[in-house]
Amino acid sequence: MRDRQVSPRLRPLVAGNWKMNGLRKNLPEIAKICAAAAEGGAGEAELVICPPATMIMAAASICEGAPVALGGQHCHAEPSGPFTGDISAEMLKDAGAKYVILGHSERRSGHNEGNEAVREKAVAAFRAGLTAIVCVGETKAEREAGEALPVVGAQLAGSIPLNSSSETLVIAYEPVWAIGTGLTPTTHDIAEMHRFIRGQIHEHLPGRGDAIRILYGGSVKPGNAGELMRVENVDGALVGGASLTSDDFMAIAGVYR
Ligand code: 13P
Repeated sequence: MRDRQVSPRLRPLVAGNWKMNGLRKNLPEIAKICAAAAEGGAGEAELVICPPATMIMAAASICEGAPVALGGQHCHAEPSGPFTGDISAEMLKDAGAKYVILGHSERRSGHNEGNEAVREKAVAAFRAGLTAIVCVGETKAEREAGEALPVVGAQLAGSIPLNSSSETLVIAYEPVWAIGTGLTPTTHDIAEMHRFIRGQIHEHLPGRGDAIRILYGGSVKPGNAGELMRVENVDGALVGGASLTSDDFMAIAGVYR
């Protein structure tokens, strides 16, 4: 905690994960976010929207010149090849993405993505020039068993490439039981976990630990964002449901004004 007081505050990042939501008719929502961001609505925070891959190219032309970046929600580790239905990091970059979310719990559980696969995808993201937002987080059973820290520690150890830097890597702590449930950990528990993650990054990436942003995700809403974003070592948010409307998303980002 001490060294955070002497290190400069990191530029916060507020990222919206649209998951499998979004059609062309929802593009005006992205235009509204761009307009609000251009008027300073996110203050010092950097904004990223991760819509479905089908929307990235159209969204990129809307976001051109606006202080809003785009991201994908996953990628394949290979740059191209016989992988029907998959999308490479290079393709996301080509479509206009700057970021890619990796290792989201919905990918870890629904697509059997383990730590090693996440690390390979992160390496692919770096190769393509994308910044990886690597997600970690424990289940309810793991928290109740007192295993939250070791579980997240193992995810970090297995998922983070050793050549990561603050330019290429963002960590998102998303307790699985807080995603889409309206539940959030106490600020005490978030502070404990983020302090632990900071320490782990220091260990794995010597000299780079202080500069890598650690986001909190899981039921972030306009009503709780102020409290959650004030927690020490919380450098922004990864927002699911509340990122689908510009009003809610900008209300969350507005805590950094
Ligand atoms: P909710 O904000 O809908 O809980 O989702 C969080 C999340 O999974 C972001 O990646």
